[in-house]
Amino acid sequence: MEILQNVHSYMAYVVLVILILAVFNAITGLASNRMFTLQKDFRISLFALILSHIQLLLGLALFFVSTSGLKAIQAVGMGGLNAPARLLAVEHPFVNIIAIVLITIGWSRHKKFMEGKKKFRSIAIFYGLGLLLILSRIPWGQWFN
Ligand code: HEM
Repeated sequence: MEILQNVHSYMAYVVLVILILAVFNAITGLASNRMFTLQKDFRISLFALILSHIQLLLGLALFFVSTSGLKAIQAVGMGGLNAPARLLAVEHPFVNIIAIVLITIGWSRHKKFMEGKKKFRSIAIFYGLGLLLILSRIPWGQWFN
């Protein structure tokens, strides 16, 4: 459990960096109206997708084993959690699941388009929203303690 938490904690840096890169790349791609390339644009978006899914799996496992996850909810009930505990057990897990669903939709949509502009737009919007949701529910205090 300790190790799971550590891996999830360190992976968070990697996931955030690659997501920021993917969103930045999509926005600049859109703005410069360039071609969507397999070498760079496809790869960076796929990499961000895969790493967020790995983080999702680690997070799901943590949710079930950690004392800050499901067990905390079972112990005192949803309404009994104070704000920091609710962030860890409820808001962070559920908002991040939604964020990763959005990222996955952005990925699937981008594949349907032929035009680079539309591909970049799909990644920019859906990965961007996902990233904002993730950033809105990071337990910053606990992460950097
Ligand atoms: C992709 C986005 C995610 C990022 C960037 C992320 C990041 C983090 C960070 C930085 C922490 C604090 C780690 C620490 O204490 O050092 C954390 C804790 C936690 N995360 Fe995530 N997480 C993500 C997704 C998820 C998902 C999808 C779930 C569950 C479904 C989840 C469940 C948890 C739980 C239960 C904890 C508390 C662990 C504990 O204190 O024992 N995370 N996460």
